[in-house]
Amino acid sequence: MMKILLGSSEVHPYSKTGGLADMVGALARTLARAGHRVGVVTPLYQGIPGRFPELKPLDLPLDFPLGARRVRGGVLGLEVERGLTIYFIDQPGFYQRPDLYQSHGTDYPDNAERFIFLSKAIAHLALHLSWKPELLHVNDWQTGFAPLFIHHQKRLPGWGNVPHSCLTIHNLAYQGLFPAGQYAAANLPWEYFTPDGVEFYGQMNCLKTGIRYAGVLATVSPRYAREITTPEFGCGLDGLLRHRRRSLFGILNGVDYDEWNTSNGPYIKHHYSSGNLRGKAANKLELQREMGLPEDDAIPLFGSIGRLVEQKGVDVMLGALEEMLGTRLQFVLLGTGTPVFQRAYQQLARRFPSKVSVQIGFDEALSHRVEAGCDFVLMPSRFEPCGLNQLYSLRFGAIPIVRATGGLDDTVIDVRENPDKANGIKFAEYSAPALAKAIRKALVLYQAPQLLHQFRQNAMAADFSWKHTATEYLKIYRHGMEGEKSLTESC
Ligand code: ADP
Ligand code: GLC
Repeated sequence: MMKILLGSSEVHPYSKTGGLADMVGALARTLARAGHRVGVVTPLYQGIPGRFPELKPLDLPLDFPLGARRVRGGVLGLEVERGLTIYFIDQPGFYQRPDLYQSHGTDYPDNAERFIFLSKAIAHLALHLSWKPELLHVNDWQTGFAPLFIHHQKRLPGWGNVPHSCLTIHNLAYQGLFPAGQYAAANLPWEYFTPDGVEFYGQMNCLKTGIRYAGVLATVSPRYAREITTPEFGCGLDGLLRHRRRSLFGILNGVDYDEWNTSNGPYIKHHYSSGNLRGKAANKLELQREMGLPEDDAIPLFGSIGRLVEQKGVDVMLGALEEMLGTRLQFVLLGTGTPVFQRAYQQLARRFPSKVSVQIGFDEALSHRVEAGCDFVLMPSRFEPCGLNQLYSLRFGAIPIVRATGGLDDTVIDVRENPDKANGIKFAEYSAPALAKAIRKALVLYQAPQLLHQFRQNAMAADFSWKHTATEYLKIYRHGMEGEKSLTESC
C-alpha cells in the first residue's frame, strides 16, 4: 500500500476545463480502489459546496505569507470512497469566481498568487496530514511550485524525511510565466531564481520550477514524451527536459469507462454496444434534431468537441470545412475558447444552416451525445499531449480523424499502419488541404458500410482502461522513491 497525495487545479467531477480534470479524478479513484491511501488537493471553486453538500470543514487552518501579506484559508474534506479524500482549499478571495483561470478570454491578473497559494497549501498538506503521504504527485504549472516548497523544506533542520515528488506535464505550452517580481509571493530565497531554477529568460516560470525540482516527471503519452525533448515541441524547455530525460516517462492516460459508456451511460438516450449498433443510429437522429440539422441517417455526420484554441487545429478545421461543405455532409461543434474562433464558427453555421450547427459553451451531457451521435470526430491538433476525446470517440464508435501527433498518433490506428486493426484516419501535414483529404477518405469509408462496420468494431474494442495507466504511475512513484539520484546530482 502506498500513501499518495495528488495536487491539481481541476478535478472531475468537481471542476473541469479539460482533460486534466478527467485524468486526475480517474487516477485518484483507480489508485484508491487498488488499495492505496489517496488524497487530492484542489481549490474550492464557486458552486462546489452547493453540488456537494456533504463537504466537511477540517481542522487544518492555512495561514501563509504571500509576499508582504499573510493569506488565510481553510480546508474542506470530502470522503469520496474508501481510501480517497478530496481536500478542497477554501480561499474565497482567490477561488470563488465564475471561471477557473480567466474571465472573458483574459487571465485573472492574480493567477500567480492564486496558484502559488495553492502550491503552498499542497506542500503544507503533504507535510502535515496525519496519514503522512509518502509521494506527492502534482500536475501542470498551477501546482509547479509545490515540489520546490518540498525541496526547500527538506533543507531545513529536522525535515530530512519529506515526501518524494512527481510532476505530470499535461501540456508544455502552458507554463505559468509571470514577471520576476511575482516570485516574491513564494517567500523563498532568491538563490532559486536563476536560469538553473525558477527563472526563464528573466521571468518566473511555474512549470519549469516543477520540472526542475520534482523527483520524477511524467507526461501523458510516449510520443509526446519524445516530442518535448526536441526544439520543435519543447517550448523553450527542451534543453532542461533532455537533461532530465532519464527521469521522464510517457504514460498514456486512461479512460473512465464507468463514465464514458455506451451501454448504460446517463447522458445518452439510446444505449448501444458493438454487437448492436441500432442505438447509435437513433442517437444520430436525436443529435441532428437537437442541433437543428435535417434528420437523415444517410448523411455522414462529423463532429468536434473541445477548447477553441490554436493547439486544437481549429484554424485548419475551418479551412477544411470551407473546402468540404460543398459535399453532402453535416458538422456539429461543441466548444468554447478564443472569441475570434467562436465567432468564426458561428459565422460558418449562419452561412450553412442545414449543414453546420455550433454550440458555444461547456456542456458535459451534450459532449456525450455528440460522441454517441456522430459518425466521425475531427481532432486536427497542431500538437496533442494525449487527447482524451479521441479515446471517447473510439469507445462510442465515432471514427476519429486525427493529425498524427502526440497521443493522437499513439492511440489511433490508420489503415496504412494495420488494415485489420484500423480504427481511425490519420494525416500528417498540418494544413487545411491535408485535413480535407482525410475527410474525403471518411466519405469514401461511409459509402462502404462493411468496412465502416469493421472500423467501428475495432474502435469500440480498443481498451484504454485506467488499470494499466495507474500501474505505470505506481512504477514511476516507486522509481522516484528509490531516488536513483539526488536532485543536486541530476540538475
Ligand atoms: P484538453 O485537455 O487539451 O482540452 P482532452 O481531449 O484531453 O483535451 O480533454 C478534453 C476534455 O474536455 C474531454 O473530456 C472533453 O469532452 C471535454 N470538453 C472540452 N470542451 C468541452 C465542451 N465545450 N463541453 C463539454 N466538454 C468539453
Ligand atoms: C492537456 C492536453 C491533452 C491531455 C490532457 C490530459 O490538457 O492538452 O492532450 O489529454 O491534458 O492529460
